[in-house]
Amino acid sequence: MKSGPKTRAMFMRAKESMPCGVTSNFRYWGDDRTLVVKKGEGAYIWDQDDNRYIDYRLGFGPVILGHAYKEVIDRVADGLKMGNTFAMTNELEINVAEKIRKMTGVDMVRYANSGTEATMGAIRVARAWTGREKILKFEGAYHGFHDYSLWNTYPPIPGTGYRRSPVLIPQGSGIPAGISQYIFSVPFNDKELLKKKVKENWGDLAAIIVEPLLGNQASIMPRDGFMDFIREICSEHEIVMIMDEVKTGFRIAPGGAQEYFNVKADLVTYAKSLGNGFPVAAICGKKEIMGEIGPGKIPHGGTYAGNVASMAAADAVLDMIAAGALDKVNAHGSKLKTGWKKILDKAGVPHVIQGPPSMPGIVFTDKGCLEYRDWAESNHDLYEKVIQKLFTKGIMPDCDSREPWFISASHSDEDADYCLGAFGEAVNEICG
Ligand SMILES: Cc1ncc(COP(=O)(O)O)c(C=O)c1O
Repeated sequence: MKSGPKTRAMFMRAKESMPCGVTSNFRYWGDDRTLVVKKGEGAYIWDQDDNRYIDYRLGFGPVILGHAYKEVIDRVADGLKMGNTFAMTNELEINVAEKIRKMTGVDMVRYANSGTEATMGAIRVARAWTGREKILKFEGAYHGFHDYSLWNTYPPIPGTGYRRSPVLIPQGSGIPAGISQYIFSVPFNDKELLKKKVKENWGDLAAIIVEPLLGNQASIMPRDGFMDFIREICSEHEIVMIMDEVKTGFRIAPGGAQEYFNVKADLVTYAKSLGNGFPVAAICGKKEIMGEIGPGKIPHGGTYAGNVASMAAADAVLDMIAAGALDKVNAHGSKLKTGWKKILDKAGVPHVIQGPPSMPGIVFTDKGCLEYRDWAESNHDLYEKVIQKLFTKGIMPDCDSREPWFISASHSDEDADYCLGAFGEAVNEICG
């Protein structure tokens, strides 16, 4: 879908001052398609030409309650009366940490401003704790844009080699080649390959960092027992298990993936849904490890970490989630999942619908989808065609088939009905 005249004019203005006219490479969809938002409210966003879309991107996931959500905005406005940044602990930080502990079962919390910062910090903590330097990540997993994690996030297939011994590929230029000596990458959901890699290298391995479901690969789910297996193998070899809950935390359950899969990690990273769009993140985990962060031991800092605006937002979000906000999110997502399946079955389109109702993914494939390579071989062209049709009907999931659909507590039952109607039309127009 091409953008309207006002949107395009504003985008061209943006391009004069900002590379590709955006603040993140993932936001650039091409000169004639990249949107410039005018406003968001609840489940909806508007572009500069006043086209309204039901928003299923939600800023790549964080907006769990809805855009400009009153309780959050009011709490932030109220909090800011005291000022924002002090380089001192404020009471809101303590309140939020207590709520996070209660909801997730972690012992201690250190704040950061983004998911990238949180995973970077967690990796450092794991290295310091174990005295080892290497980390193991899974193919297709995204842990932010720091140099230690941008390996095999979205590698070309073929090009990454044989799945038993994948070649390490950086996401792009500017990532030092030498970093590759600190990384192992194995396919998701393969216990045998994971076990082999750990057995051969455990003495060097500080951490296994895992997205508990591949929230950056259409929500590929772990096989039954895969998270338990990672837990066991980490405990056996004193490797730190880092669960990267940047996307799943405070979204798939109040206690995130630890609650959903009933597995306790050593360190957990949170971001997105914690702030409903405000820049807040956290490195959390067991006291014996987190308690070692401190002067002269494990470095961690950040001028803006724990700032009042972000803490006030998190304080409101956690109250809303504790009061049951995720029930609405899950009901909407379940309705979409059931409806999509009916439509695609009727149209005879091979597909997999996966992931929790709060962040479901659709993959057009006639095989299963258990790892990145399965997603890579799926029909992305068809996916993009369907999504482009949906854009013209006022519905906006991400057109990148790696992104799940994100649901907020502001998405209504009527939105779900409208969305399913439009999805059915789009599939029929393309495949009928
Ligand atoms: C699982 C995961 N970890 C880390 C990040 C990085 O978070 P941020 O974009 O806030 O730096 C993301 C972002 O999408 C993510 O999905």
